[in-house]
Amino acid sequence: HTNVQWGGRFSESTDAFVAAFTASVGFDRRLYKQDIAGSIAHATMLEKVGVLTQQERDAIVKGLHAVQADIEAGRFEWSVALEDVHMNVEKALTDKIGPVGKKLHTGRSRNDQVATDIRLYLRDEIDHLLAEITRLQTGLITLAEQEADTIMPGFTHLQTAQPVTFGHHLLAWNEMLNRDYERLVDCRKRVNILPLGAAALAGTTYPIDRFYTAELLGFDRPTENSLDSVSDRDFAIEFASAASLIMMHLSRMSEELVLWTSAQFNFIELPDRFCTGSSIMPQKKNPDVPELVRGKSGRIFGHLVSLLTLMKSQPLAYNKDNQEDKEPIFDTVDNLGGSLRAFADMVPHIQAKRENMREAAIRGFSTATDLADYLVKKGMAFRDAHEVVGKSVAYGIQSGKDLGQMSLAELQQFSDTIADDVFDVLTLEGSVAARDHFGGTAPNQVRAAVIRASTVIAER
Ligand code: ARG
Repeated sequence: HTNVQWGGRFSESTDAFVAAFTASVGFDRRLYKQDIAGSIAHATMLEKVGVLTQQERDAIVKGLHAVQADIEAGRFEWSVALEDVHMNVEKALTDKIGPVGKKLHTGRSRNDQVATDIRLYLRDEIDHLLAEITRLQTGLITLAEQEADTIMPGFTHLQTAQPVTFGHHLLAWNEMLNRDYERLVDCRKRVNILPLGAAALAGTTYPIDRFYTAELLGFDRPTENSLDSVSDRDFAIEFASAASLIMMHLSRMSEELVLWTSAQFNFIELPDRFCTGSSIMPQKKNPDVPELVRGKSGRIFGHLVSLLTLMKSQPLAYNKDNQEDKEPIFDTVDNLGGSLRAFADMVPHIQAKRENMREAAIRGFSTATDLADYLVKKGMAFRDAHEVVGKSVAYGIQSGKDLGQMSLAELQQFSDTIADDVFDVLTLEGSVAARDHFGGTAPNQVRAAVIRASTVIAER
């Protein structure tokens, strides 16, 4: 029979197409390091409880290290006939060290083995992604500090609303990433639990010590229930969900970056090395990085739905369906990691075109609310003030003047409550400086928020 690991009860070899169709080694070989680390811990535990002798354990560990060296040197021949990474590694071990290699799988199944491998893999990848989020946030916070006084139009409905500071806008992005960071940290808690020892589904008759294996592999504890251990992929779905939220945030940031680099906004400049040109239009400088990140959010959302759908009708315990969890997980890790890396590299080099931002804020009647608030402070009811300012804006549209450009006499057409001091509130600087409370857009509030945001990151 073609398969030495389970061929015993079969009377014919697997159909060649079926073998290729059911094999996962093409993609799960990427788990070789985790597979070998898990096997070393398993063998070490088996020795501790007296199932393996010390010589047997040592031979297995030495052999596994040699297999790993072969893989890393590109000397390893992956076999589709051996289905997956687990059986490839085990067969290579036995080829290297002889029959004692066949003892490694004692008290274990591929079902608890693969669940362990993915958890080890995701744990490491989450740590890497967390570091990338922090790197991106560091860039945002640094830029926010530089741009604490820079005034730009704030938007609702993508229409100019009120002036804000660019630093304040960047710190809004930083808040999204703080929540993303916390979600990944929380997800990691449920990733870092050891399923090994559940064996196929019911546990094993050997006197295994799962707490010891957990300790060896850096897991917080072993899982509670053997059936749940081999069937649970919640942790992968949680990861895909946290990843989707991060990509949704990166996509929103991308959308704004793309808009801001356009000639119509002209708020920022991205460095040339993060952009590409056009093969036909010589003048073009396209913001490819944010566009591609925005696009990649789609496939990550897709992986979340794939994983949910993969799990939704599975009876306990392990089913081969679960082999389909790996590609969505790997692709999520790759593309989320790549997107975060590109953003973390790019953000520190965003150049604000401060004059253009300022111009745009002046153009859009963005201090209209300030004028209304001014009238209220002089005793007018807010609804009446709203009406007065609305009429002033209508006059401005028709005469081509912003509020700050009108003379006192022009403004007084709409209310004689308006006096000379109105020009203090109609300036952009006056408008942002007046929003001077915790969480507001005033430059000194932005500087205080920068300090708090830096502390959050420093305490991680
Ligand atoms: N390649 C399989 C997977 O990814 C490993 C577990 C297979 N177990 C089994 N009993 N066929 O899920």
